[in-house]
Amino acid sequence: MHVNLKIHRFHPEQDKKAHWETYKVECEPGDRVLDLLNHIKWYVDPTLTYRRSCAHGICGSDAMLINGRNRLACKILIKDLAKDGGTITVEPIRGLKVEKDLLVDMEPFFESYRAVLPFFINDDPVPAGERLQTQEDRERFDQGTKCILCAACTTSCPIFWVNGRYLGPASIVQAHRFIFDSRDKGTSERLNILNQNTGVWRCRTAYNCTEACPREIPVTQLIEEVKRAVMYQQV
Ligand code: SF4
Ligand code: F3S
Ligand code: FES
Repeated sequence: MHVNLKIHRFHPEQDKKAHWETYKVECEPGDRVLDLLNHIKWYVDPTLTYRRSCAHGICGSDAMLINGRNRLACKILIKDLAKDGGTITVEPIRGLKVEKDLLVDMEPFFESYRAVLPFFINDDPVPAGERLQTQEDRERFDQGTKCILCAACTTSCPIFWVNGRYLGPASIVQAHRFIFDSRDKGTSERLNILNQNTGVWRCRTAYNCTEACPREIPVTQLIEEVKRAVMYQQV
Protein backbone atom coordinates (compact mmCIF):
# COMPACT_ATOMS: atom_id res chain seq x y z
CA MET A 1 0.00 0.00 0.00
CA HIS A 2 1.00 3.64 -0.06
CA VAL A 3 -0.09 6.71 1.91
CA ASN A 4 0.46 10.43 1.56
CA LEU A 5 2.18 11.77 4.63
CA LYS A 6 1.27 15.46 4.92
CA ILE A 7 3.79 17.04 7.27
CA HIS A 8 3.74 20.51 8.82
CA ARG A 9 7.16 21.96 7.99
CA PHE A 10 8.90 25.01 9.39
CA HIS A 11 12.53 26.03 8.96
CA PRO A 12 13.21 29.02 11.24
CA GLU A 13 16.03 30.35 9.03
CA GLN A 14 14.15 30.07 5.73
CA ASP A 15 10.42 30.27 6.39
CA LYS A 16 8.32 33.20 7.55
CA LYS A 17 5.55 30.76 8.44
CA ALA A 18 4.93 27.04 8.49
CA HIS A 19 3.63 25.18 5.45
CA TRP A 20 2.55 21.66 4.49
CA GLU A 21 4.65 19.24 2.47
CA THR A 22 3.25 15.93 1.26
CA TYR A 23 5.28 12.78 0.67
CA LYS A 24 3.98 9.67 -1.06
CA VAL A 25 5.41 6.71 0.84
CA GLU A 26 5.19 2.96 0.15
CA CYS A 27 4.43 1.13 3.38
CA GLU A 28 2.92 -1.89 5.09
CA PRO A 29 -0.30 -1.63 7.13
CA GLY A 30 1.66 -2.62 10.24
CA ASP A 31 4.27 0.14 9.83
CA ARG A 32 4.19 2.97 12.34
CA VAL A 33 4.19 6.68 11.54
CA LEU A 34 7.74 6.80 12.90
CA ASP A 35 8.85 4.25 10.27
CA LEU A 36 7.52 6.55 7.55
CA LEU A 37 9.14 9.64 9.04
CA ASN A 38 12.43 7.73 9.24
CA HIS A 39 12.05 6.65 5.61
CA ILE A 40 11.53 10.26 4.49
CA LYS A 41 14.46 11.52 6.57
CA TRP A 42 16.87 8.76 5.52
CA TYR A 43 15.96 8.45 1.82
CA VAL A 44 13.99 11.51 0.67
CA ASP A 45 14.65 14.68 2.69
CA PRO A 46 17.33 14.63 5.42
CA THR A 47 16.30 18.11 6.59
CA LEU A 48 13.08 16.75 8.13
CA THR A 49 13.40 17.28 11.89
CA TYR A 50 11.66 15.43 14.70
CA ARG A 51 12.51 13.80 18.03
CA ARG A 52 12.60 10.09 18.67
CA SER A 53 14.74 7.76 20.68
CA CYS A 54 13.47 4.38 21.89
CA ALA A 55 10.99 3.75 19.04
CA HIS A 56 8.99 1.54 21.42
CA GLY A 57 6.68 3.82 23.39
CA ILE A 58 8.97 4.15 26.39
CA CYS A 59 11.03 7.36 26.16
CA GLY A 60 8.14 9.72 25.39
CA SER A 61 10.08 11.81 22.88
CA ASP A 62 7.93 11.50 19.75
CA ALA A 63 4.50 12.82 20.71
CA MET A 64 2.97 14.50 17.64
CA LEU A 65 -0.40 15.64 16.41
CA ILE A 66 -1.30 12.84 14.00
CA ASN A 67 -4.58 13.10 12.11
CA GLY A 68 -5.57 15.81 14.58
CA ARG A 69 -4.89 13.79 17.75
CA ASN A 70 -1.87 13.64 20.00
CA ARG A 71 -0.16 10.27 19.70
CA LEU A 72 3.28 8.69 19.82
CA ALA A 73 4.59 8.28 16.26
CA CYS A 74 6.28 5.02 17.29
CA LYS A 75 3.06 3.44 18.56
CA ILE A 76 0.37 4.34 16.06
CA LEU A 77 0.02 1.98 13.08
CA ILE A 78 -0.67 3.15 9.53
CA LYS A 79 -3.65 0.76 9.20
CA ASP A 80 -5.32 2.56 12.09
CA LEU A 81 -4.96 5.93 10.36
CA ALA A 82 -5.53 5.54 6.63
CA LYS A 83 -6.55 3.21 3.83
CA ASP A 84 -4.40 2.52 0.77
CA GLY A 85 -3.84 5.85 -1.01
CA GLY A 86 -5.12 7.85 1.95
CA THR A 87 -3.56 10.85 3.65
CA ILE A 88 -2.13 11.14 7.17
CA THR A 89 -1.40 14.57 8.65
CA VAL A 90 1.49 15.08 11.06
CA GLU A 91 1.97 18.31 13.03
CA PRO A 92 3.95 19.36 16.10
CA ILE A 93 2.21 19.16 19.48
CA ARG A 94 0.44 22.43 20.34
CA GLY A 95 1.17 25.12 22.91
CA LEU A 96 4.97 24.90 22.80
CA LYS A 97 7.23 26.92 20.50
CA VAL A 98 8.12 25.10 17.29
CA GLU A 99 11.91 25.00 16.86
CA LYS A 100 11.85 23.25 13.49
CA ASP A 101 9.31 21.04 11.70
CA LEU A 102 7.95 18.62 14.35
CA LEU A 103 10.43 19.60 17.04
CA VAL A 104 9.16 21.84 19.84
CA ASP A 105 10.90 23.54 22.76
CA MET A 106 10.11 21.25 25.70
CA GLU A 107 11.74 23.49 28.30
CA PRO A 108 8.50 25.17 29.56
CA PHE A 109 7.01 21.68 29.94
CA PHE A 110 9.94 20.46 32.03
CA GLU A 111 9.98 23.71 34.01
CA SER A 112 6.41 22.92 35.12
CA TYR A 113 7.44 19.36 35.84
CA ARG A 114 10.28 20.52 38.12
CA ALA A 115 7.95 22.99 39.85
CA VAL A 116 5.90 20.20 41.49
CA LEU A 117 8.97 18.67 43.19
CA PRO A 118 8.82 15.34 41.32
CA PHE A 119 11.15 13.47 43.66
CA PHE A 120 10.98 11.61 46.97
CA ILE A 121 11.06 13.90 50.03
CA ASN A 122 11.66 12.42 53.46
CA ASP A 123 14.18 13.83 55.93
CA ASP A 124 13.54 11.18 58.58
CA PRO A 125 16.62 9.21 59.63
CA VAL A 126 17.32 6.54 57.04
CA PRO A 127 15.89 3.26 58.38
CA ALA A 128 18.04 0.16 58.71
CA GLY A 129 15.81 -1.70 56.22
CA GLU A 130 13.40 -0.75 53.47
CA ARG A 131 10.66 1.87 53.87
CA LEU A 132 7.78 -0.59 53.82
CA GLN A 133 4.26 0.09 52.58
CA THR A 134 1.22 -2.11 52.01
CA GLN A 135 0.03 -3.23 48.59
CA GLU A 136 -2.95 -0.87 49.04
CA ASP A 137 -0.58 2.05 49.75
CA ARG A 138 1.40 1.19 46.62
CA GLU A 139 -1.77 0.94 44.55
CA ARG A 140 -2.75 4.54 45.36
CA PHE A 141 -0.02 6.04 43.19
CA ASP A 142 0.46 3.22 40.69
CA GLN A 143 -1.06 5.01 37.68
CA GLY A 144 1.34 7.96 37.91
CA THR A 145 4.37 5.65 37.76
CA LYS A 146 3.39 4.75 34.18
CA CYS A 147 3.89 8.31 32.93
CA ILE A 148 6.67 8.72 30.34
CA LEU A 149 6.53 12.55 30.26
CA CYS A 150 5.62 12.62 26.58
CA ALA A 151 3.55 15.83 27.00
CA ALA A 152 0.67 14.46 24.88
CA CYS A 153 -1.74 15.30 27.71
CA THR A 154 -0.52 18.82 28.51
CA THR A 155 -0.34 19.85 24.85
CA SER A 156 -3.88 18.64 24.18
CA CYS A 157 -5.32 20.70 27.05
CA PRO A 158 -7.22 23.82 25.91
CA ILE A 159 -6.39 25.57 29.19
CA PHE A 160 -2.67 25.07 28.54
CA TRP A 161 -3.05 26.43 25.00
CA VAL A 162 -4.45 29.72 26.26
CA ASN A 163 -2.39 29.94 29.44
CA GLY A 164 1.05 28.36 29.19
CA ARG A 165 1.60 29.09 32.88
CA TYR A 166 -0.89 26.36 33.85
CA LEU A 167 1.30 23.58 35.24
CA GLY A 168 -0.67 21.14 33.10
CA PRO A 169 -1.90 17.57 33.49
CA ALA A 170 1.50 15.88 33.12
CA SER A 171 2.93 17.83 36.06
CA ILE A 172 -0.15 17.08 38.15
CA VAL A 173 0.18 13.36 37.35
CA GLN A 174 3.78 13.55 38.50
CA ALA A 175 2.79 15.39 41.67
CA HIS A 176 0.08 12.76 42.28
CA ARG A 177 2.70 10.03 42.14
CA PHE A 178 4.46 11.50 45.21
CA ILE A 179 1.52 13.11 47.03
CA PHE A 180 -0.15 9.70 47.39
CA ASP A 181 3.04 7.81 48.29
CA SER A 182 2.77 6.94 52.00
CA ARG A 183 6.59 7.12 52.37
CA ASP A 184 6.85 10.70 51.11
CA LYS A 185 6.75 13.73 53.44
CA GLY A 186 6.52 16.55 50.89
CA THR A 187 2.73 16.42 50.52
CA SER A 188 1.77 19.77 52.08
CA GLU A 189 4.53 21.57 50.13
CA ARG A 190 3.23 20.12 46.85
CA LEU A 191 -0.41 20.78 47.74
CA ASN A 192 0.45 24.43 48.33
CA ILE A 193 2.16 24.65 44.94
CA LEU A 194 -0.88 23.09 43.25
CA ASN A 195 -3.24 25.44 45.08
CA GLN A 196 -1.66 28.47 43.37
CA ASN A 197 -3.27 30.08 40.33
CA THR A 198 -1.09 28.01 38.00
CA GLY A 199 -2.22 24.78 39.68
CA VAL A 200 -5.13 22.34 39.71
CA TRP A 201 -7.94 24.90 39.80
CA ARG A 202 -7.10 25.88 36.21
CA CYS A 203 -8.37 22.45 35.10
CA ARG A 204 -11.91 22.58 33.68
CA THR A 205 -12.25 18.80 33.34
CA ALA A 206 -12.01 18.89 29.55
CA TYR A 207 -10.79 15.25 29.43
CA ASN A 208 -8.58 15.86 26.35
CA CYS A 209 -5.62 14.82 28.48
CA THR A 210 -7.10 11.43 29.34
CA GLU A 211 -7.97 10.75 25.71
CA ALA A 212 -4.47 11.72 24.58
CA CYS A 213 -2.45 9.64 27.03
CA PRO A 214 -0.64 6.82 25.19
CA ARG A 215 -0.14 4.99 28.51
CA GLU A 216 -3.88 4.94 29.20
CA ILE A 217 -3.42 6.74 32.49
CA PRO A 218 -6.76 8.11 33.78
CA VAL A 219 -5.26 11.59 33.87
CA THR A 220 -8.45 13.52 34.67
CA GLN A 221 -9.28 11.14 37.51
CA LEU A 222 -5.83 11.70 39.03
CA ILE A 223 -6.28 15.46 38.70
CA GLU A 224 -9.62 15.22 40.50
CA GLU A 225 -7.95 13.25 43.31
CA VAL A 226 -5.31 15.96 43.63
CA LYS A 227 -8.03 18.66 43.63
CA ARG A 228 -9.70 16.91 46.58
CA ALA A 229 -6.37 16.63 48.39
CA VAL A 230 -5.70 20.35 47.81
CA MET A 231 -9.20 21.28 48.99
CA TYR A 232 -8.98 19.26 52.21
CA GLN A 233 -5.22 19.65 52.62
CA GLN A 234 -4.86 15.93 53.19
CA VAL A 235 -4.65 12.72 51.18
FE1 SF4 B 1 2.31 11.38 28.45
FE2 SF4 B 1 0.25 10.23 29.75
FE3 SF4 B 1 2.38 11.12 31.12
FE4 SF4 B 1 0.70 12.84 30.02
S1 SF4 B 1 0.23 11.39 31.66
S2 SF4 B 1 2.93 12.96 29.93
S3 SF4 B 1 0.14 11.78 28.14
S4 SF4 B 1 2.36 9.45 29.61
FE1 F3S C 1 -7.07 20.13 30.63
FE2 F3S C 1 -7.31 17.60 31.21
FE3 F3S C 1 -8.23 19.41 32.85
S1 F3S C 1 -7.55 18.51 29.23
S2 F3S C 1 -8.85 21.05 31.53
S3 F3S C 1 -6.12 19.12 32.33
S4 F3S C 1 -9.14 17.43 32.42
FE1 FES D 1 10.36 6.73 22.46
FE2 FES D 1 8.34 6.96 20.72
S1 FES D 1 10.46 7.12 20.30
S2 FES D 1 8.25 6.84 22.86
